[in-house]
Amino acid sequence: MIRNYFSVITRSALSMIGTVIALVGFVLFVTLFLIQNMGFRGGPYLGIITYLLLPAVVVAGLTLVPIGIWRQTKKERVAVEHGEPVPNLPVIDMNKPRTRKALAAFGVMSLIGLVVLAVGTYKGVEYMESVEFCGLACHTVMQPEYTAHQRSPHSRVACAECHIGAGADWFVKSKISGSWQLIAVAFNLYPTPIPTPVHNLRPARETCEQCHLPTKFTGDKLKVRVHYAEDEQNTELHTVLMMKVGGQHGRGASGIHWHVAPGVKVRFLSDPSREKIYDIEMTGVDGKVKLFKNEEAPADAEWRQMDCVDCHNRPTHVYREPANEIDNSMDQGTIDKTLPFIKREGLRAVQVEYPSHEAARAGIAADIAAFYAQNYPDLAKSKADAIAQTGKTLGDVYSWNVFPAMKVTWDTYPNHIGHKQSPGCFRCHDKKHATEDGEKITKKCDTCHSLLADEEPDPAILYQMAGEEPPAPGEAGTPPLDETGT
Ligand code: HEC
Ligand code: HEC
Ligand code: HEC
Ligand code: HEC
Ligand code: HEC
Repeated sequence: MIRNYFSVITRSALSMIGTVIALVGFVLFVTLFLIQNMGFRGGPYLGIITYLLLPAVVVAGLTLVPIGIWRQTKKERVAVEHGEPVPNLPVIDMNKPRTRKALAAFGVMSLIGLVVLAVGTYKGVEYMESVEFCGLACHTVMQPEYTAHQRSPHSRVACAECHIGAGADWFVKSKISGSWQLIAVAFNLYPTPIPTPVHNLRPARETCEQCHLPTKFTGDKLKVRVHYAEDEQNTELHTVLMMKVGGQHGRGASGIHWHVAPGVKVRFLSDPSREKIYDIEMTGVDGKVKLFKNEEAPADAEWRQMDCVDCHNRPTHVYREPANEIDNSMDQGTIDKTLPFIKREGLRAVQVEYPSHEAARAGIAADIAAFYAQNYPDLAKSKADAIAQTGKTLGDVYSWNVFPAMKVTWDTYPNHIGHKQSPGCFRCHDKKHATEDGEKITKKCDTCHSLLADEEPDPAILYQMAGEEPPAPGEAGTPPLDETGT
């Protein structure tokens, strides 16, 4: 019986093809499986291929075998009924040197073929995980995220590191949503702008914490910010903040990273956008549980355990505010800060709506040129180059943050770090959330930072940090910014 089947398999082309497919799939599976188990760190797509695609290939190959057998036996039955001879199998005679050579050649060729196939699969997978593939394969759709990613501290971190991560269960999830995304892009079904928060984002413990150990960043962090006023001189102002990042201290925890310190658990009930927060439940290091309540939550509110991305919701897709972008560019010199009223005019120009980046670049440059031609005609001639460069930078500022094709504009994706661009920390720290005993979540300014200078032209603290004498009152100085190292 078994011999009979074996001979049928080898007589049916379909069964033979099925066998080869199943064998190739199996060998590839074993190779990739071994590579990954030898400690080679393959990314998520390698897992998808190894554990989903190749087994599917093996199963598909194996199903072809019985189909082939069934078709072959039917054909032979018909042949016998018509009195025709059933063809014999070819004889492989190993005594003939030609046959031996042919077999050896076949073996070598198959081996080379398998190696090429394995390398090819690996390379293909590597490409699918790259930032270029994720960010550029469907250009318009991912353009905002890709642009922001390229300018962020995480520009060297692949999209898949945060969006998929390692481990078999998430391969499956991301594969399912990945196929849906392909369909959505192909048929123009995706929403504009792409909604946030990402509800099936993997817990930060399994993504961010692969690189950032929550116990390894403690202590304070100094921030020196340069702002420019909207007056004719674009007066330079400095804000100096000491951020109390904190975290774990011995067995306790304090400061900003208290929320994610070992032993602490904060859960909250919010609307799906997570912008409005209702109940907050906290478990301290001592194990005590407190419930803070504000107004009554609507029916669609959801509970969530707070993790890194509830504060760092824009670790890499950072869309800045217009004032922030222009301040940075003035500080870096790509916008000429000696041009009168450039802060005010720049702010106005980049907040005009345009249908595309090309239209914005042309429109903004013309807008700025026209302002100086009209109000400062001499300057418009003597500083024509600086004005053109400034117009170009303002065009960049617009194109980095506003994406008309995806309906992404200045305030589409607010940042939750701080409380300026959006309520951010003040979603909870608003002195309105209270326990039954009337204990409130604090809003005291020095809980989170010491404000060492608030938009001051010449803050004494900058001189002190550099070990210099501050200028006498009423005297203008140049704050020693570089010496502070920020
Ligand atoms: C450092 C981690 C990290 C990297 C790297 C990263 N993302 Fe994200 N991404 C996030 C987080 C966190 C959110 C969602 C924040 C939320 O849910 O509030 C997000 C949200 C998104 C969104 C939803 C829209 C939005 O802006 O909220 C898209 C689309 C997206 N990412 C695509 C990408 C692409 C494409 C890349 C690579 C070019 C990438 N991401 C790289 C962490 C990352
Ligand atoms: C693959 C490793 C990796 C992953 C995953 C990762 N990061 Fe980072 N992150 C880095 C590196 C490297 C830097 C430092 C970049 C630098 O200093 O230029 C960094 C910097 C940061 C900073 C400081 C940024 C600044 O302005 O100085 C924050 C905050 C941060 N990451 C948060 C996150 C969060 C939140 C996540 C998860 C959504 C995450 N990271 C995931 C590697 C990673
Ligand atoms: C309660 C909000 C909050 C949570 C939760 C939070 N962070 Fe932060 N984190 C901050 C703030 C605020 C800063 C201060 C720096 C700043 O303003 O950019 C910061 C700073 C950092 C820095 C830079 C530290 C330095 O000294 O340069 C890293 C890295 C970082 N966080 C990673 C994480 C990771 C990883 C998690 C999750 C385990 C996390 N954070 C959870 C609010 C938070
Ligand atoms: C719950 C924590 C928290 C509380 C309370 C808080 N802040 Fe802040 N504040 C932040 C964080 C986080 C940032 C952002 C730092 C950054 O931009 O990286 C910030 C930034 C600032 C800035 C700098 C803005 C800039 O970009 O120049 C000022 C000014 C400021 N806060 C003032 C205050 C004042 C005044 C109070 C008291 C009413 C206060 N803050 C209370 C967390 C807090
Ligand atoms: C989901 C609600 C929630 C959000 C959002 C939130 N916090 Fe908190 N935070 C709490 C709770 C609850 C406590 C504990 C009660 C208290 O100390 O008032 C707390 C305590 C703190 C403490 C004191 C920790 C200690 O004991 O030393 C700091 C500092 C702090 N938060 C900073 C921030 C900053 C900065 C942000 C924004 C980047 C932020 N928090 C966002 C809920 C939140």
